[in-house]
Amino acid sequence: MKRILVIFSHPALQSSRANKQLLQALSGLDGITLHDLYHHYPDMFIDVKREQGLLSEHDIIVFQHPFYWYSCPAIMKEWMDLVLEYGYAYGPEAHALSGKQWLSAITTGGAPESYCSAGYNQRPLLDFLLPFQQTAQLCGMTWLPPFVLHSFHKIRDPEALRRCGQDYRQLLCALRDEQLTPAQLAGSAYLRDLLEGLS
Ligand SMILES: Cc1cc2nc3c(=O)[nH]c(=O)nc-3n(C[C@H](O)[C@H](O)[C@H](O)COP(=O)(O)O)c2cc1C
Repeated sequence: MKRILVIFSHPALQSSRANKQLLQALSGLDGITLHDLYHHYPDMFIDVKREQGLLSEHDIIVFQHPFYWYSCPAIMKEWMDLVLEYGYAYGPEAHALSGKQWLSAITTGGAPESYCSAGYNQRPLLDFLLPFQQTAQLCGMTWLPPFVLHSFHKIRDPEALRRCGQDYRQLLCALRDEQLTPAQLAGSAYLRDLLEGLS
């Protein structure tokens, strides 16, 4: 069983709908550690050694956050700038993160069709995730197809809302239990594309 660390960033969790739903869906799962950055570091002073210790105890690192300005909330960028330091995460002698997996789990305001050349965001969502993908690559980590939840605010049906959380739970369990093969993961653009094969 792989150990999963969910590094969660949301500056206004009290007003969240999407991320709250995703977090709720993970409650009580074995092998999954939830780490809420804004909760632990309300002043943004990140304890680098503590974070590196947490990383060393886990195999799959999930970065869960709302998509803000085509990127992540500020604390996750601060976390990356400080924790993924030279000599630890990258550089000739740095192997601390080699072989670990990186999963971006993001929620967006924009609908799927807004993320294409004809849409107002003009590019596929995956293009905007390239800095994260390349960061994973430079740290020797394996980039997993991202879990994306689009325009959750438009979903009103309580059953559909619940199902989004259940999809996330099921996919993280499948990663934890190694039910998805490297070929399946490498061959999918989005993690949710792999749901069908699981049920
Ligand atoms: C500061 C800010 C920037 C945002 N930037 C984007 C963006 O670049 N693309 C997008 O699709 N949605 C954007 N949104 C919408 C959020 O991604 C969306 O509200 C969030 O994912 C919903 O999750 P929540 O209910 O957990 O807050 C932005 C929202 C805020 C507040």
